[in-house]
Amino acid sequence: MGKYDFTSRPNRLNQFTYKWQSSEKNPDLLQLWVADMDFLPVPEIKQAIIDYGQEHIFGYNYFKDSLYQSVIDWEKNEHGYEIKKEDISFIDGVVPAISVAIQAFTEKGDAVLINSPVYYPFARTIRLNDRKLVENSLLIKNGHFEIDFEQLEKDIVENQVKLYVFCSPHNPGGRVWSKVELQKIGQLCKKHGVILVSDEIHQDLALFGHTHHSFNTVDDSFKDFTLVLSSATKTFNIAGTKNSFVIIQNPTLRRKFQRVQLANNQHEVPTIGMITTETAFTYGKPWLEELKKVVEKNIDYLVDYFEKNTKIKVMKPEGTYLVWLDFSAYGIEQPQLDEKLQKEAKVVLNDGAHFGKEGKTFARLNVATPFETIKEASERIAKAFGK
Ligand SMILES: Cc1ncc(COP(=O)(O)O)c(C=O)c1O
Repeated sequence: MGKYDFTSRPNRLNQFTYKWQSSEKNPDLLQLWVADMDFLPVPEIKQAIIDYGQEHIFGYNYFKDSLYQSVIDWEKNEHGYEIKKEDISFIDGVVPAISVAIQAFTEKGDAVLINSPVYYPFARTIRLNDRKLVENSLLIKNGHFEIDFEQLEKDIVENQVKLYVFCSPHNPGGRVWSKVELQKIGQLCKKHGVILVSDEIHQDLALFGHTHHSFNTVDDSFKDFTLVLSSATKTFNIAGTKNSFVIIQNPTLRRKFQRVQLANNQHEVPTIGMITTETAFTYGKPWLEELKKVVEKNIDYLVDYFEKNTKIKVMKPEGTYLVWLDFSAYGIEQPQLDEKLQKEAKVVLNDGAHFGKEGKTFARLNVATPFETIKEASERIAKAFGK
């Protein structure tokens, strides 16, 4: 028994919780889709919000030095990444930061590359900004995703790619990329003049002994063309408080990024996000340590249970709390797969096809929920699909 409660499921109904919205009408449904967690928050974060409500009048705020310092310390202590205050720009989300980067460093019609499948707002943002979407398919090898580097270089050269939005660790596959892989990516970007946007929002959730390497720690020269995007929001389940940070060590790139932020009036973030971020980074470490054990236990259970009771192929994640499930052995594809999951198993997962064409026989399952929910969901899925 740890210090924190990861077994009671907090009520999430009638709280305008996006993840649990459809359960308000259909309470039989178990929600395992949107990437937030059904766990009670870090107590210090809850207290900090209460204190703010009691002591403040909700006006405009500035970015406190202690907020910058909490980010600097977290990056150094958790990831061995040494940054300075001026390298950091705050913004209301990692996805908004991707939009700003696309607008700052590319023109309409320019090619922007992603690895597919990947977190679906990447492709959406590129398309809605009228850039050319280049999808480099990931390979499934050795039970996890790998990058086809030969094809990647071809895709970069043939399309004259200007910017690469990279997901590290990877959502939905849970891949924690090795140093060697990151080296190769960086070398390709350097060789072909590509700006790299490294989305590291899942950086704190490396599991089972894997180590996340922040992109610029792999090779000092990568900081000339790389933007590292991260936040405390995924790690500490505070996504609704909206605060992320962008680390840009090249001053020319930073000025361009900040200019577009200002042009969009995206240079301010909600005060509540500043408070939750600083508090999470200052007090959240013991909670995170326990959380990771709970997530690992849920993943191990799921892998074992599905192997024994279903034909689902589970891509065991090396990080994140997201599990990529292959239902191809049942001869079913999206959207019928999603329909069967909801109607027969009464569980809501993410439709794998939303992450790219490679995902049409897949669904993504979020295990950041008490073990009892995972057990119940696994049994329902096994019953609906069979062995
Ligand atoms: C890879 C990745 N990037 C970004 C986000 C969302 O970031 P934000 O809420 O800061 O825009 C998520 C959320 O699940 C994610 O998985």
